[in-house]
Parts: sequence; structure tokens; C-alpha cells
Amino acid sequence: MRVGMIGWRGMVGSVLMDRMRACGDFGDIEPTFFSTSNAGGKAPSVAGASPGRLQDAFNLDALMQLPVLVSCQGGDYTDKVHDALRGRGWTGYWIDAASKLRMRSESVLVLDPVNAHVIARGLSEGCKTFCGANCTVSLMLMALQGLFRAGHVEWVTSMTYQAASGAGAQHMRELIAQMAHVAAGCEDLLADPASTALEVDARVGGALREEALPTAAFGVPLAGSALPWIDVPSGSGRTREEAKAHEEGNKLLGLEPSPIPIDGICVRIGSMRCHAQAFTIKLRQDLPLDEVEEIVATANDWVRLVPNDREATLRELTPARVSGQLEVPIGRLHKLRMGGEYLTGFSVGDQLLWGAAEPLRRMLQLLKESERVPS
Ligand code: HSE
Repeated sequence: MRVGMIGWRGMVGSVLMDRMRACGDFGDIEPTFFSTSNAGGKAPSVAGASPGRLQDAFNLDALMQLPVLVSCQGGDYTDKVHDALRGRGWTGYWIDAASKLRMRSESVLVLDPVNAHVIARGLSEGCKTFCGANCTVSLMLMALQGLFRAGHVEWVTSMTYQAASGAGAQHMRELIAQMAHVAAGCEDLLADPASTALEVDARVGGALREEALPTAAFGVPLAGSALPWIDVPSGSGRTREEAKAHEEGNKLLGLEPSPIPIDGICVRIGSMRCHAQAFTIKLRQDLPLDEVEEIVATANDWVRLVPNDREATLRELTPARVSGQLEVPIGRLHKLRMGGEYLTGFSVGDQLLWGAAEPLRRMLQLLKESERVPS
């Protein structure tokens, strides 16, 4: 299968490339690599093939030669190129990490462990545009798939703890630069066992307010803090990130005709690439907790139930532990005082894997297996 790859060098694109290499996907995918800034440069070498030259990612004639295009280049690129290609009559498959096309009626959202039926229907109905969903949405659905699939969910709130990577590569760097700035400001106090925590705290507070603290990306300190606003306003008091939970979650599940309310508050915290979420779930009935656990734990090959005890939770249910892993642990499951239908839980997932690159990688595999793509 011939595939054009755009944005393969950015953060999501690099993770996608790594996963495709690790899974041997290039054995039967023949890639053409595009670049927005380095056309003519050397393309990466894959599967032992000699590296060719990078094509210009804005050259519509070159893009149109390919039956499949994968873009991790971002929404502005999608805006500039996708409709122009379609306008010229290109009928290939467009697979996109960006949010631009997600809510169009002609697009299908991809997360095949959860919505293989929606993807299969899209393919059979001739859909040609497949988008990865928002990372918190995908990670929530990987964790709660069993409950949604069994029809047990009346509504969900998700309170998120989102990693710096969701904002971009510069933001990841800035988080660590902020930490380094703060640490440098109180190094002497940390080295002195006689110093007090309040003295350290006063120095940290001062460092976080200094002009020299790097804030070009976030605009404010994230180190030692939490930012309860992600993305732009979207009306009704929600941010765009918060609105996506309901909109994309229901679309991904194929529930748009009678959506399940999904809502909450999205918060940026100082983790690097794992998003965490605390859920409150109103079940349609008072299911016994052991039944809930069984339904959650067996929903797909990646969700993993963490026992609700201190040791297992602190060992297995943290961003530090889950970073770089495909597993999506969920734990702290218990009923709330509000009644037997009220369930809570906490989940963690790598936002660059299931939250971004992995659904796209697997969509390419599904396309290949569908034998719908002309060679
Ligand atoms: N919008 C997400 C975030 C990133 O800001 O964390 C990926 O969907």
C-alpha cells in the first residue's frame, strides 16, 4: 500500500514512525515522505529501503499520486491542503491526527479497539476521511469501554490532569526549564539540612514569580502549579478541550443520535506525556462493584484494572509509571456516597500513544486489510 506521510518528524509523527518501525508496518507499506520545509532533503530510511528524497508537502500534484495520506502536521496544514485536494478530485484516504476535520459529517473518528464497528461501517459506506480523536477522549474510552459498550453509563464527568505534551513539544521543554529554574533558585537551601520547608517554599514562590522564569509557551508557571484552562473558550463556560469530550466521545462511539452526557473540567499539570482523569459515572443501575470491575477489566487488550489499594495505586496508576506504555490502567474504582449508581475511578494513559499515534497506525493496518486501496 502506497502511503504519503506528512508531519512524520513532529512529536506525534515521530511516535507514529517509531511504532510503525517497531511493529514492522513498513514491510508492506511503501511510504513517500513529505516535508513542509525541507523538500529535496533526505527522507528517512525504513525497512532497509534506500532513503529517497523528501517531497514538497504543498505540492498537490505530488500528493494526488498517492491513494493514502497520513498527516500529523497539524490543523493549519489540514486547512490548507485537504479541501484543496478534494476540490481537485482526489478520492484517496486521508488519515489525520488534527482536530480540524473530526466533526465533519463525512469524517469517522478512529479508535478501533473501541469503535471497530463504526470504522467498518464508514469504510463500507465509502468514507475517505479518518481522524484520530482528542487524546483525553480516546484515553477515557479505552478505560471505560466496557461500561459504555454494555449500555451501563447514564452520564460521565471527567476531571482531567493533562500532560505538557498535549500542548506541544515546546511546552514539554518549558515545563522542565521551569523546574530547573526553580531548583536552581533553592539549591543551597536543599543542600542545607538545617533549612526549613517554609524557607524553601518562599524561594520557590519567588522563583515562580521572577521575570527570568521561562514562560514563552505556557504564558504562566506550570511547574509547581496547575492550569485549569486548556484551549480556547467554546461557549457555555466550557473550554474547547472540555467540549470535545461530549462531542467527539459520542461521535466516536456512534451514539450521536442519542448522546450520553460527558462533561467536566480539563486541567494541565506538570507531567510530561501521560494524561490522567478522575471519573464520576452515573450508572443506569446499581451494579455490584465486582461486576463493574469485571466489565471494565475485560473490555479490550490494553485496559488494566489496578486494585483499589494504596500500594498498587501508587505503583501502577501514575503518569510516571505509564509513560511510554500502551497499557491504560484504571483504578480507585469504588461507589460514591451519593448512591449505588454512582461510581468513581481514576485512569492514566500515554497521550502520544493511544491518545494520538496508535489509532492512526492501526487505521493504516485496517485500510490495508480492507483491500480497498488501489496499489
Ligand atoms: N488537546 C490535548 C491537550 C492534546 O491539550 O492536552 C491532544 O488531543
